[in-house]
Amino acid sequence: MSDSTAAGVAKARHIESLAPEATRIIDDPYAQYFYFGASLVNLVGHGAGLWLFDMLMPGAHEMLIARTRCIDDLVQQEVENGACQVVLLGAGYDMRGARLNLAEKKVKVFEVDQPAVQSRKREKVAAIPNLSNPVHFVPVDFACQRVDEELSKVADYDPKAKTLIILEGVSQYIPGEAMLTTLKAMDGVTGPGTCFFFSYVDERIQREAAQLGDAKTVQKIMSMAASVGEPWINFYAQSEVPGLLEASSKFRLVSDVSADEISKKSFPLERQIPPEKLLVIERYVVARK
Ligand SMILES: C[S@@+](CC[C@H](N)C(=O)[O-])C[C@H]1O[C@@H](n2cnc3c(N)ncnc32)[C@H](O)[C@@H]1O
Repeated sequence: MSDSTAAGVAKARHIESLAPEATRIIDDPYAQYFYFGASLVNLVGHGAGLWLFDMLMPGAHEMLIARTRCIDDLVQQEVENGACQVVLLGAGYDMRGARLNLAEKKVKVFEVDQPAVQSRKREKVAAIPNLSNPVHFVPVDFACQRVDEELSKVADYDPKAKTLIILEGVSQYIPGEAMLTTLKAMDGVTGPGTCFFFSYVDERIQREAAQLGDAKTVQKIMSMAASVGEPWINFYAQSEVPGLLEASSKFRLVSDVSADEISKKSFPLERQIPPEKLLVIERYVVARK
């Protein structure tokens, strides 16, 4: 089971964490432990690291980092408003629990991922010096297991609590049916006021890639994902999202914004990239029940 895309996102977060404090958008001191080549990036620093990343996938860094920042802000907001559990679906090498000090804020974190990827993460986490990471690991393959059943086996999980659910950079990898089942399952094991964040890839990528960024870059990203055994197989049109929520759950749409919008909001003017370099293949949904 490949963890390459999770490692790729960790790489972007590491590169961003090396930016000068005044201009960096997110800080992830743990990202460097999850991908091969981090010591080289530490050596060359933010500027050269970003340049190299950009050579391969122009615009991807800004899209990924703006996404991470927007979710970090959502976590802070939901915790302030009483969410006491965070469920990371397809957690990969996301270290929000430790990064955002959620345990100190009395917020429980449940990381859900494919069994093989999760056990690799557990090994890597165990090797990080001086890390306190009191999260619950819940192995689930969305394609063939139910997340509600697996969460219910964790004694510390409260199915009535106000919860924040995050499915970041995952929906394109799982069948549409699994996405429906997962929405429905999470509806059944969360309390009133629960917020569900998910990202999705715009279905226009299949026939009008040039609408979403440089068509060659878009094609390259999809080919790279497929070549490591993590092909993108699931896409949505913006108009489908309210129906997807209604068909599967009591979650109702609060907002559905483009990568372009959150990128402009997250990055200061001096770090914004030219419009022709922007990748807008993803959109971001916040839903609530
Ligand atoms: C691009 S990574 C994103 C990781 C993380 N959410 C982040 O943003 O850093 C995609 C993640 O989805 C997970 N994933 C893919 N298919 C899955 C499935 N069928 N069941 C559970 N997780 C899955 C992968 O294991 C991986 O961790």
